[in-house]
Amino acid sequence: MKIDILTLFPQMFEAPFSFGIFKRAIDNGGVSLNIHNIRDYTHDKHHIVDDSPYGGGAGMVLKPGPIFEAVEAIKAGIGDEPLDVILLTPQGRLLNQQVAQELSQKKHLAFICGHYEGEDERVREHLATDEISIGDYVLTGGELPAMVVIDALLRLIPGVLGSDESALDDSHASGLLEYPQYTRPEDFRGMTVPEVLLSGDHARIARWRREQIIRRTLERRPELLNKANLGLEDKKLVERLISAQSQVNKDRES
Ligand code: ADE
Repeated sequence: MKIDILTLFPQMFEAPFSFGIFKRAIDNGGVSLNIHNIRDYTHDKHHIVDDSPYGGGAGMVLKPGPIFEAVEAIKAGIGDEPLDVILLTPQGRLLNQQVAQELSQKKHLAFICGHYEGEDERVREHLATDEISIGDYVLTGGELPAMVVIDALLRLIPGVLGSDESALDDSHASGLLEYPQYTRPEDFRGMTVPEVLLSGDHARIARWRREQIIRRTLERRPELLNKANLGLEDKKLVERLISAQSQVNKDRES
């Protein structure tokens, strides 16, 4: 996979790509990375990338020219190969595991990191092929969102995570939350590991973990259960947990 990043702050990407998952993606995952300074695609003496909005109003807007030219420079080097041009803004479709999965299958992604009050609308309408938000809050620029999106998709590329760090068990990989994990010591300051995990009974452990997944998702993110692919046993458990909870509520009221 090729990743191009268009930003006004290229140095912000130095640290993440020097460590951990990002570095391993480049070393072992066949990912090639190019970071472009949008300012390098200006033609005036002062390398101006923004201007005041037509119609008035506060703040500055990123000019379309340098962003279009940066993307065109990438396209010029790849002929007919497909390129997904992703604009990071709070108005985009929300990032989730499914979106990360979809992006991890792509051959070539270019991320445009916006800034200031935003970018000229023509970037959105005529250049970007996708627009992604990492959540319903506003950040000062698209750099951190680009890192979040790239982290989420890189770890799904084969060879990027070690064999002992499979992404299959992740929270959200199945559309549900993850079961709780413990490691040594068995007794930490009087806080002990659930007995079942020490039993060596793999079938019992698997049942316990599944129950924790359902219980946790029901307690914290019940809306995920509606979308998930639940088996008969899972559905029965959900019913049991819901009726146990409504009994608790009734007892409290009486
Ligand atoms: N730029 C500013 N805020 C953002 C957000 N929430 N997601 C993506 N890009 C952004």
